[in-house]
Amino acid sequence: MKKQLLVAVTLVAVFVVSMVASAQVKKGKTRAALTKQIMGGIMRPNCAALGEGLKTAPADDKGWAALATNAAVLNEVSYIVMDDGRCPDGDWANAATTLRECSAAVLAKIEAKDLEGASAAFKTLTGACAACHKAHKK
Ligand code: HEC
Repeated sequence: MKKQLLVAVTLVAVFVVSMVASAQVKKGKTRAALTKQIMGGIMRPNCAALGEGLKTAPADDKGWAALATNAAVLNEVSYIVMDDGRCPDGDWANAATTLRECSAAVLAKIEAKDLEGASAAFKTLTGACAACHKAHKK
């Protein structure tokens, strides 16, 4: 009887822990935005615009400024994904750090109007998307 109770308690504990873990991945603790919405609404559009925009050198300062905005926003998202209890583990945290460092590097290269440097840093940046998705995107 005691043993069965222990098994039941353990199962409930495992269930609760896995629920909390998945809740953190899909949504923060208090804020309204789902991770999915942050990805679809902020992450993907800025990443896509940056990838597209770095294919050829922007024609003018306005073009460079638009790319700088994309890189700066991606840098900001690296903080958002760590906020509000979203981060479940080291894979997530490392990917966020890669995103933060690479987006800062992309931004610096854009500010220097160094297209090749920006493209190289952007390539490393997309490794952060892949790493986190491999570990956490079901
Ligand atoms: C720290 C972790 C992490 C990083 C970094 C990350 N993602 Fe995600 N992404 C997720 C998770 C988790 C999901 C799945 C969310 C869900 O379905 O609840 C997701 C889902 C998505 C989706 C699908 C959204 C939808 O509507 O289903 C897109 C698109 C996406 N990410 C783009 C990106 C891009 C582009 C990058 C890199 C610039 C990136 N993500 C970096 C964690 C991350």
